Amino acid sequence: MSEQLEKEINRRRTFAIISHPDAGKTTLTEKLLLYGGAIHLAGSIKSRKTQRHAVSDWMEIEKQRGISVTSSVLQFDYGGCRINILDTPGHQDFSEDTYRTLMAVDSAVMVLDAAKGVEAQTKKLFKVCKERRIPIFTFVNKLDRFGKAPIDLMDELENVLGIRSCPMNWPVGSDGRYRGVYNRQTKLVELFAADETHGQETRGSETYALDAPELKAALDEETYQALLDDIALLDEAGEAFDEERIACGELTPMFFGSAMTNFGVQNFLEEYLRLAPPPAPRASSDGNIQPEDEKFSAFVFKIQANMNPAHRDRLAFIRIVSGKFERNMSVWHVASDKEIKLAQPQQFLAQDRQIIDEAWPGDIVGLFDPGIFGIGDTLCDGAHKFKFADFPVFPPEKFARVQAKDTMKRKQFVKGVEQLTQEGAIQLFRQAGAGIESYIVGTVGTLQFDVLTYRLKSEYGVDIEMVMQPFEVARWLTYPDGRAVTPESLRGADRGMFVYDRDERPVLLVNNEWALGWITDNNPSLELHPVPPDRREI
Ligand code: G4P
Repeated sequence: MSEQLEKEINRRRTFAIISHPDAGKTTLTEKLLLYGGAIHLAGSIKSRKTQRHAVSDWMEIEKQRGISVTSSVLQFDYGGCRINILDTPGHQDFSEDTYRTLMAVDSAVMVLDAAKGVEAQTKKLFKVCKERRIPIFTFVNKLDRFGKAPIDLMDELENVLGIRSCPMNWPVGSDGRYRGVYNRQTKLVELFAADETHGQETRGSETYALDAPELKAALDEETYQALLDDIALLDEAGEAFDEERIACGELTPMFFGSAMTNFGVQNFLEEYLRLAPPPAPRASSDGNIQPEDEKFSAFVFKIQANMNPAHRDRLAFIRIVSGKFERNMSVWHVASDKEIKLAQPQQFLAQDRQIIDEAWPGDIVGLFDPGIFGIGDTLCDGAHKFKFADFPVFPPEKFARVQAKDTMKRKQFVKGVEQLTQEGAIQLFRQAGAGIESYIVGTVGTLQFDVLTYRLKSEYGVDIEMVMQPFEVARWLTYPDGRAVTPESLRGADRGMFVYDRDERPVLLVNNEWALGWITDNNPSLELHPVPPDRREI
């Protein structure tokens, strides 16, 4: 292995920040960028409510709804590390997009609101991380105001998520009147000075040994004694830091802080970079591909069209798994079985794009996509061809019939719908016997229909008519002997709608589990799959 490859791999940290909406993911991301020197005055990612506008807000719709729909990639350096943060949308309807983003990271930071603890979306995202065996680090946020007691939060992690925690630092003070944090590694207490800037600038702090008279003078007797008792309890009864247990999702290092006031943020960043894993191998048809493999390989985890209305382009985001990436290099695109040249590769600091010349395992690169890439595609060296393991997919749960209002716009309509399908935003079905100008679109949540309507209008100039369908369940159909499933071969198919997916595979849409039971009872030899039979379900 070349020395440079090894060095670049070891200094990379690629992670996502996951949280329930409003726990403080955006604020923490912003503060990490602030400490990384990537921005100077926090507030450029998302400023106060009046001008809610995030640097990572690529789509107008995000601004309109005040939510983050798309995932962004941010890169910066800190303490010799090269950091790639993949922003995940917090809205529950976008879980599939979030899921794909999590395929591209090596660890995750779970942000909890200290007052709310583990919330609904936290649970879902946690489950995905655990299944994917992504090490999880916990940041308990909003310690500047009243929150649950740290011990209770540790219990909650264990009872609700089934994960034990090992606090890396510990808040000094109580009941929302926290004064600083005790660092369990350095055994030093960091007290924060009052902050007039509302956390917009990095904050100075004073550090004291636990027995320093200045510390005792700064804290009241009760607070000081409580801190000593807590430390003694943690040292005696707490979980020990254990890399292996963290790697397999049994244990999470836990940090306390407040992203808004910068309390504990720098300490978190430094410890996180020290402890988080560098780029990990990825499973493929040819076994695990190690980052140290000199031959370049990557996979597409996200496709995004028209990110910038001024460019009207389409980008495929790849995660580099092994080897060195170089501008203008030729690689093997496994899905099309062709060699392609990677020109104009881009990297991101939020909206600022930069053409890059080289990148390394763990890095995310945006490739100009003339329409050839699909989610999950493998890029590798022509001399060593293999395919990375397929992404699992979500079963669709909401369905609508969609067509262009103006039949003259059919061509743009088909193009737009195909495009969004390739991006993985929707799943497309064609009703048996019906023309292609009317599609049945399947999604995991209703918000995607708004996105579909909005994007077809703004990017393709097409107004659509959409009629929600009463179906809740889709099943891909096969017979064990390989015979084709047709509407005629099914008993009771009128209980649902017989459609074909984009690969002409038969699918039955039904209203509910009861109707599904009826079909199963009447067609004992039929096999029903919640996702295409060659894919894994999430
Ligand atoms: P999200 O990306 O996870 O959805 O959360 P985001 O960072 O947008 O934060 C949600 C709200 O919580 C914001 O308030 C933000 O200012 C606030 N917040 C984040 N970190 C802290 C913290 O450490 N302490 C306190 N007290 N609040 C925090 P908002 O009122 O919705 O917006 P804004 O007016 O502050 O922009």
